Amino acid sequence: MGNMEQVGHTLETFAAKCHDFIKAEPGPAGRRKVCELLSQVLKDEQFVAKYVDNNDKERNILYQDPEFGFCIIAHDYVGAKESGPHDHGHSWAIYGQARGETQMNDWSLIEKASAEVPGKVKHARTYKLTPGVAHLYNEGDLHSPSRASSTKLIRIEGTDMTKVKRFKFLPV
Ligand SMILES: [Fe+2]
Repeated sequence: MGNMEQVGHTLETFAAKCHDFIKAEPGPAGRRKVCELLSQVLKDEQFVAKYVDNNDKERNILYQDPEFGFCIIAHDYVGAKESGPHDHGHSWAIYGQARGETQMNDWSLIEKASAEVPGKVKHARTYKLTPGVAHLYNEGDLHSPSRASSTKLIRIEGTDMTKVKRFKFLPV
C-alpha cells in the first residue's frame, strides 16, 4: 500500500499561513489567498471535527494575530435567523461555511451611513454559502446573511469586530 495519508491542517499551521499571506500582501490580494486556504481547511474533516463540531459557542475566537490583529473565529449559530445589511466598519471579513447553509445577500450603497443617520442600500444579489465555500468581504462591502436552520462557520475578521462601532443600513 502506498502512503496516501494527507498532511492535515492544524490551527497553528493555518494561522501561520494566514499571517504570512497578510504580511506579504496586506490588501485584498492577501485576503483572497486566506479565503482560498480557508476553503481548503473547511474540507479537512479532522480540522472541522476538532474546531467546528466541538464548538458550541456562538463566537469562539480560536486565534488572534499578535501582529495584524485579525481573528479566526468558530461560530455555532443555533436556529433560523435573518440579519440586516451591514459592512464591517473599517475592517474586512471572510465567511467560511462549515456546516449547514447560509443564504447571503449583497447590497449596493445608495447613501452613506453616519453615526446619527442610517445609510441606504439596494439589494444586488443572493447566493448560497454551502460547506467548503468561503467568501471575502472587503472594507465597505455590504451584505446580510440569513439561515433557515442551525449552521456552523469559521469566520476571519480583520480585527475583533466586537470592538468596532458599526453604522446601520436600511434597504430601499
Ligand atoms: Fe458580516
